[in-house]
Amino acid sequence: MAQNWTPNSWRNKPIQQVPAYPDQAALAATEAQLAKFPPLVFAGEARRLKAQLAKVAEGDAFLLQGGDCAESFAEHGADNIRDFFRSFLQMAVVLTYGAQLPVVKVGRIAGQFAKPRSSNFEKQGDLELPSYRGDIINGIDFTPESRIPAPERQLDAYRQSAATLNLLRAFAMGGYANLENVHKWMLGFVKDSPQGERYKKLADRISETMDFMRAIGITADNQPSLRETDFFTSHEALLLGYEEALTRVDSTSGDWYATSGHMLWIGDRTRQLDHAHVEYFRGIKNPIGLKCGPSLQPDNLIELIDALNPQNEAGRLTLICRFGYDKVADSLPKLIRAVEREGKKVVWSCDPMHGNTITLNNYKTRPFDRILSEVESFFQIHRAEGTHPGGIHVEMTGKDVTECTGGARAVTGADLQDRYHTHCDPRLNADQALELAFLLAERMKTGRDEKRMVVNG
Ligand code: TRP
Ligand code: MN
Repeated sequence: MAQNWTPNSWRNKPIQQVPAYPDQAALAATEAQLAKFPPLVFAGEARRLKAQLAKVAEGDAFLLQGGDCAESFAEHGADNIRDFFRSFLQMAVVLTYGAQLPVVKVGRIAGQFAKPRSSNFEKQGDLELPSYRGDIINGIDFTPESRIPAPERQLDAYRQSAATLNLLRAFAMGGYANLENVHKWMLGFVKDSPQGERYKKLADRISETMDFMRAIGITADNQPSLRETDFFTSHEALLLGYEEALTRVDSTSGDWYATSGHMLWIGDRTRQLDHAHVEYFRGIKNPIGLKCGPSLQPDNLIELIDALNPQNEAGRLTLICRFGYDKVADSLPKLIRAVEREGKKVVWSCDPMHGNTITLNNYKTRPFDRILSEVESFFQIHRAEGTHPGGIHVEMTGKDVTECTGGARAVTGADLQDRYHTHCDPRLNADQALELAFLLAERMKTGRDEKRMVVNG
């Protein structure tokens, strides 16, 4: 299997989750056009992320990965991107401060458009139509026209990704992420919540520290690390024709890189060893993720690791675990033991969203206490196994949505209808995201203190 990889060798393999494009010639023309477009990200950036993830694998950094379940064309705007980024920075700063570890920042953004579906069709009343597969493929409106897969949507997704990335780069490097702005990232509706109060106290302490540092000559002007942050992009690389068109040779190394985002992951439904998605992923040099659900068996995981990371390079592979609060204790330990037994270097990340989706009052939702419970179990299991709980992967937004129930401001089943805006799965609102960050910071601090006690005897 290790031979003869090309950006299109996946086309000779069986494949899951393929949209039925009615016009194959139009699809090919679009892909040819995309293949001429500039890359969205650069190989050197992907390598930089991989190096940061290698630190996570060693337990010397923590991965924060989050964003929309699915980005949408309709909600593309500066305010949404800014509010997401604020919420994300708040989480990052809480984690950095609490855990006293560098936080590797990866958005589920600027390319997160394609969605795997459990059914090819959706039925409403007597009408049955193809399922919505994400804005890069078809439209969410329940009409026959909108549900036809349309290749031009890939060009729109590319352009939206480029514009989003442009703004994110400006925010990350142009002063918005400056630690002197730590108070300004607070979102209006979070300000008066318990989490908001807690955040303000932490921000006060950071400002005080910055004042002290300024007094001794260390300022954001002379210390770029105080005013800038590395922010990376990621998405599920489901639509392989699009990915292939943006796969390019890096002139410095001669290696192939996906340039649609810094990090790509394989979904839990498309991770068959001999299928197209694994074939595509094994040839690109980016850091990659593999979603691990309850059906993944230890032997199968080891085979996938051998295929995807044959050199056992730290930082190359992140295992994104999404079992469900009631299954994690059954599923995770056996995978950890297999990985340890085989000496594989991986980042263990916890996705506490996807195994905890339920239906309530006809809304897909996720109870916040189950999300927290899966996170708690993830940490406990890693502590018990002596391995690193390396990261978190969440669906979140900077908006005041009511999509997940619970949290300190107790969204109820009846509240779901108020501001339920997601195009796919329910996301944490900014308040819930902050609450989760505080909980994570506490757990990480406990782990660190325990480690210190061992070191100090
Ligand atoms: N450059 C450091 C980092 O990215 C510190 C930093 C600057 C930071 N701005 C930040 C940390 C915003 C968290 C959030 O970690
Ligand atoms: Mn989702």
